[in-house]
Amino acid sequence: MRVAPLFALFFCFLTGCQTKEEVKFDQYVAEGYALYTIHCANCHQENGRGLAGLYPPISKQYLKDKTALACMMRNGLVGSLVVEGKAYNRAMPGNLTLKDLEIAEIITYVGSRWNDEKTITQTDSVKSALLKCDN
Ligand code: HEC
Repeated sequence: MRVAPLFALFFCFLTGCQTKEEVKFDQYVAEGYALYTIHCANCHQENGRGLAGLYPPISKQYLKDKTALACMMRNGLVGSLVVEGKAYNRAMPGNLTLKDLEIAEIITYVGSRWNDEKTITQTDSVKSALLKCDN
């Protein structure tokens, strides 16, 4: 009798077949979603599409640069910005209450939802990104 496949089946039954990293990714996405709802959705909306002319949609264009993302969440963003062909020029307030871990979770969430990313943004990389902000 071949035992290995049976064992694998049982193991998957217990763990959902996820690696530790995948479990952590799912946790970050879930936490990130909760934090996004509290701290971002009132302007960018739950669906990330923003609010007609006032608040821009969360755009792939701005999700690639994790340093810039971390900096804008902590320190805010001012100046004119073109998002999906439309110009915006309204200040996004910074949020000094967000912890590095929470910023990492929000970045992981927005990246997974609006840029099909499958990787975690780690707290350490948020920490070092925040040292490089020029705002
Ligand atoms: C009070 C409203 C408000 C809140 C709250 C807010 N933003 Fe913004 N956000 C803005 C505005 C306004 C801009 C455009 C700023 C500009 O014109 O320079 C912007 C720009 C952005 C951009 C870059 C452009 C784009 O739309 O892709 C991203 C990404 C972003 N915000 C993410 C977030 C995240 C994540 C949060 C929550 C941590 C958040 N924002 C909270 C108003 C807000």
